[in-house]
Amino acid sequence: MTSAMNKKVLIVQYSQTGQLSRAAAAVAAPLIESPSVDVHILNIEPVKPYPFPWPLLPFLDVFPESVYLDPPELKPFDIDDDLEFDLIILAYQVWYLAPSLPITAFLKSEKAKQLLANKPVVTLIACRNMWVMAQEAMKTMLASLHAKLIDNIVLIDQGSSLSSFVTTPRWMFTGRTNAFWGFPAAGVDENDITNSRRFGLALEQALQADQEALQKPLLHGLEAVNTDYSLVQTEKLAYRSFKIWGKIIRKVGKQGDSLRKPVLILYLIFLLSIIVTVVPLNIVLKRILSPFFQKRHMQMKEYYELPSGSGDERMEKFSGKQ
Ligand SMILES: Cc1cc2nc3c(=O)[nH]c(=O)nc-3n(C[C@H](O)[C@H](O)[C@H](O)COP(=O)(O)O)c2cc1C
Repeated sequence: MTSAMNKKVLIVQYSQTGQLSRAAAAVAAPLIESPSVDVHILNIEPVKPYPFPWPLLPFLDVFPESVYLDPPELKPFDIDDDLEFDLIILAYQVWYLAPSLPITAFLKSEKAKQLLANKPVVTLIACRNMWVMAQEAMKTMLASLHAKLIDNIVLIDQGSSLSSFVTTPRWMFTGRTNAFWGFPAAGVDENDITNSRRFGLALEQALQADQEALQKPLLHGLEAVNTDYSLVQTEKLAYRSFKIWGKIIRKVGKQGDSLRKPVLILYLIFLLSIIVTVVPLNIVLKRILSPFFQKRHMQMKEYYELPSGSGDERMEKFSGKQ
């Protein structure tokens, strides 16, 4: 039921396969069902749609702009000008350790300034498993909009890091998600998506009690996020090389320019060689050395898990509720 007294929640989303929209829908369901909350969904649409499944070169070609947060043009936003929201849920996927380009474009738009300034924002990420640097970029963009990040929910692809290294690219390049040759299905486990309902239940209860106005975390104790420290190290390493290669490729030509092709292929060879050499070496070294740096690792883990944290003390209260 729509009423002037109702709390207004905006969900901003861009998803190619629909996985992230399903996660956002699971979170939104208790809010939509609530008689005292109105939910608006804003789908972000680039003027030039990105392909799915991805051909290899276009997949590589979005890398420099993703890393440099260089926004594509978007279609006009389908939302009334006079609407003001109490809470914004920003659902995004990660592209090359940065928010996906359509979401970056939204955050750099005038509309985002108008919608997000001084508002509490919950980010919802569904990606392979490397989201830490993207969320750092997200924090900076939200801060420049004077938006307040109050929570972060992260869903990652099922299986080990090694298996999603195979299943996620297979999914991106062919569209196939089925389990094969002992590898699990691609993408986030459907149970993790369904169980995201708990976040919506907690948000609904908080909105009823006007807690969003305090601009403090509302989703603590719900296992909203879990950071793997060894992946953080890998991300930091990869991010540095992405910046260097991204700069070179952007100097060679604009996105879509055929001059970029040879450099992109060179970059791919570089990337694959790093992945099979430096990345495993880095992980093994970090594991061996980790007993000596445990305190520092815990501090870093806590930092990247802010604002929601990985605690589970409210799981019983909000899980399994219809
Ligand atoms: C161009 C591109 C780059 C990606 N880079 C990353 C990445 O750096 N880290 C990560 O965990 N996932 C990455 N992914 C996977 C996405 O975050 C996401 O899981 C996938 O695109 C499915 O999203 P959707 O179901 O919302 O369309 C990338 C996907 C694409 C298309």
